[in-house]
Amino acid sequence: MQPLYEGKAKRLYTTQDQDVLRIVYKDEATAFNGEKKAEFAGKGELNNRLTSHFFEVLAAAGIPTHFIERTSEREQLVRRVTIIPLEVVVRNVVAGSLSKRLGIEEGTVLETPIVEFYYKDDSLGDPLVTPAHINLLKIATTEELSLLEQEAHRVNDVLRPYFDNKGITLVDFKLEYGKTPAGEVLLADEISPDTCRLWDKETGEHLDKDVFRRNIGSLIDTYQTLFNRLGGNGQ
Ligand code: TMP
Repeated sequence: MQPLYEGKAKRLYTTQDQDVLRIVYKDEATAFNGEKKAEFAGKGELNNRLTSHFFEVLAAAGIPTHFIERTSEREQLVRRVTIIPLEVVVRNVVAGSLSKRLGIEEGTVLETPIVEFYYKDDSLGDPLVTPAHINLLKIATTEELSLLEQEAHRVNDVLRPYFDNKGITLVDFKLEYGKTPAGEVLLADEISPDTCRLWDKETGEHLDKDVFRRNIGSLIDTYQTLFNRLGGNGQ
């Protein structure tokens, strides 16, 4: 069966229900807009379990998401949405591109979390965009944008203490939102060590895809460690 869409880490398929899609998590990891690429046996299963678990944690806190259920090791069912082409990044601690762009040392704790928007366009390299750019590109209205910002802070308000309780700092993460045919905005895509920075509170050890981006460790060992730290079975 042909996928409806194939991304870098997942394939999306239609189902008999037109409002429901099936996601299959792949073992591939990419970085730097796909320039760096490798396969890691077991990655798809770990990310499927972790993403499913994080979406369940958020749903329990009353946050609307596309997630329906995990149906197998690599698969989950989600509500069909049209993805809003923005990467919504929330930051609690300076790292990565924020450190490079503003010359602030990695590890600097932000007084208040910040939300940034990046335009999802591989050919442009996903540039940082302002609300004026987003209006200009007709990606979202000012009202929709403030909803996204508010919702992203809400996700942070749930996940930051969740990780803190496990001895992990939620440094930053990327979210994507989608719209249902009825116009409801839902948190979509994935939340996984591919899309978050997670640092051990004691040792500073990276428990996320930076081990692959920066060649500082084994991706599978790192994701498995994270999985175990969260109680196994992603619970
Ligand atoms: P950045 O510091 O490189 O801008 O990344 C911020 C966060 O967003 C980090 O947790 C990694 C995540 N991210 C993605 O999920 N996908 C991407 O394409 C990029 C660039 C970052």
